[in-house]
Amino acid sequence: MRTRLSGQLSRTDIGQSVSLAGWVLNRRDHGGVIFIDLRDRSGLVQVVADPDAPGPFAVADKARSEFVLSVEGTVRERPEGTVNPDLPTGEIEVVALRIELLNRAAPLPFQMDEDEISEAIRLKYRFLDLRRAPMQAALRLRHRIIGEIRRFLDACDFIDIETPILTRSTPEGARDYLVPSRTHPGAFFALPQSPQLFKQLLMVGGFERYYQIARCFRDEDLRADRQPEFTQLDVEMSFVDEAEVMQLMEDMLREVFKQAAGVDLPAELPRMTCAEALARYGSDRPDLRVPLELTEMTDLMKAVEFKVFSGPANDPAGRVAALRVPGGGTLTRAQIDHYTEFVSRFGAKGLAYIKVGDAGAGRDGLQSPILKFLPDEVLAQILERSGAGGGDLIFFGADRAAVVHAALGALRVEIAGDLQMVEAGWKPLWVVDFPLLAWNDEAKRFEAQHHPFTAPREQDIQWLESEPGRVLSRAYDLVLNGVEIGGGSIRIHQADLQQRVLAALGIDPQQAQAQFGFLLDGLKYGAPPHGGIAFGIDRIAAMLAGVDSIRDVIAFPKTQSASCLLTEAPGEVDAGQLQELGLRVAKVREETR
Ligand code: AMO
Ligand code: AMP
Repeated sequence: MRTRLSGQLSRTDIGQSVSLAGWVLNRRDHGGVIFIDLRDRSGLVQVVADPDAPGPFAVADKARSEFVLSVEGTVRERPEGTVNPDLPTGEIEVVALRIELLNRAAPLPFQMDEDEISEAIRLKYRFLDLRRAPMQAALRLRHRIIGEIRRFLDACDFIDIETPILTRSTPEGARDYLVPSRTHPGAFFALPQSPQLFKQLLMVGGFERYYQIARCFRDEDLRADRQPEFTQLDVEMSFVDEAEVMQLMEDMLREVFKQAAGVDLPAELPRMTCAEALARYGSDRPDLRVPLELTEMTDLMKAVEFKVFSGPANDPAGRVAALRVPGGGTLTRAQIDHYTEFVSRFGAKGLAYIKVGDAGAGRDGLQSPILKFLPDEVLAQILERSGAGGGDLIFFGADRAAVVHAALGALRVEIAGDLQMVEAGWKPLWVVDFPLLAWNDEAKRFEAQHHPFTAPREQDIQWLESEPGRVLSRAYDLVLNGVEIGGGSIRIHQADLQQRVLAALGIDPQQAQAQFGFLLDGLKYGAPPHGGIAFGIDRIAAMLAGVDSIRDVIAFPKTQSASCLLTEAPGEVDAGQLQELGLRVAKVREETR
């Protein structure tokens, strides 16, 4: 049907006869002559229909946006003054000798080259939205990323193995999507939150090096970087330690980023313990492009009379920390109030601050509502530790450490964004030495920080029963510009150690056997030492595409409320289907329809 792609024509084709096919991006009538931008997957070229050629002119005259045409014509140089330097094919045009209308398009719900189309409309008419250049570029980039991943792992002797979608619950910490079984009335499959248990069994099964571009399903609160179904690069290896997994994955990412997107990652990715990341950045996934750090003030505040500070300073679970904002002295009262409101969303009860006028003038050089509560030597130490000088502002957080981290960690990123301090570029970081268990204050019990199959560090196993909170794990997360793009661990490969960790999690043996007995059984039959990782493909693609939401790198994504505007899924099912499944819908609330 066609001999050439529109976007690939250039000066070298001048004089050539070509057959093209594609969509009308737009049509302009310039006093007799009609210009059509004809678009296909490669880009676009300008087609000219002259009244002197009445056949093609008549078709061009009737063409409208997104009509489908085939065009035969001759490539010619554009007349002087009409060259478009912004268009790759801007030096040439195709004079039409024949135009055939292949299909019509109904009036469009939005203009194809518009910038600000509401997302709801885009998702409803996703088939049109996908034709737009940004979506075409994003999905092609995603394809290149996955292609480079496969190439790299194939060369390293990994094999791609599929694992079940209809399966049992995987304990990744989210709610399951359930599928009722018709053949076993009252019983349900769960969609996998990840292939975790199966990939471990593939190691027991002797494959040694597995990967999969795997779909995962999690019913959790959605955000810009979370979808109910998303894609992981899932990897597992036998006979490796954490350093080996991290090294290989680093090499892979460097290659993928370079080949798929031309991005150079550092020759060696930095590593930091979780404790250091929290202490310095208030986050275990710090954005290292932000040049601000927290300063420790806890010890300094133990004896001050200001209860807001001395309370948390004397609480073993408390922390007092400062965040110096260089040049922040210009922040107004209203801006400070705004940031106080901002940190309250993370549970902070206030946001004390000191403005530094003259750093050498002692108390008189400072301005703050809390000066009167702090002795001279404490003020001097605050300036020294934070490195604050004239014109700076110092914010304080005082609370349980978790609240201080959440509040100041988020404030650090927010302020840097507002004051345009975020550095350009790519700042990856491995975060290691996470606690194995995290205390859940509501449930009053320990939960797995990663998942229950993550191995504790050898030297910490002794505290599993006596001081579970002190045990660190063999897990690692990869953080890029403040986004967690991957996480994994060395696993427990001995059945008895797995039982001890499950006991620390308050999961009794019967419960464990019922939920993932098949894994525990597998571990009893010569399971090799093994470990792995999973990367969020959607997140990586979104970052490399430079878009804010992973919805923009997924062909058919769901909304924030986990529905599909295109297919209108989830939908109701008819009574017969329910009956076959032995199900009855108890009550459908109007607002959930
Ligand atoms: P984890 O739960 O950390 O680990 O997931 C791995 C990576 O997947 C991405 N991710 C998501 N992306 C989009 N939407 C979501 N709802 C979502 N949830 C997670 C993140 C994350 O880093 N089985 C373990 C891996 C292992 O231990 O090997 C797991 O699934 O980028
Ligand atoms: P107050 O004595 O409650 O008026 O607080 C004095 C200053 O301390 C105000 O600027 C508050 O915003 C701030 N503040 C109160 N609670 C905290 C807290 N937990 N952490 C940091 N600053 C706080």
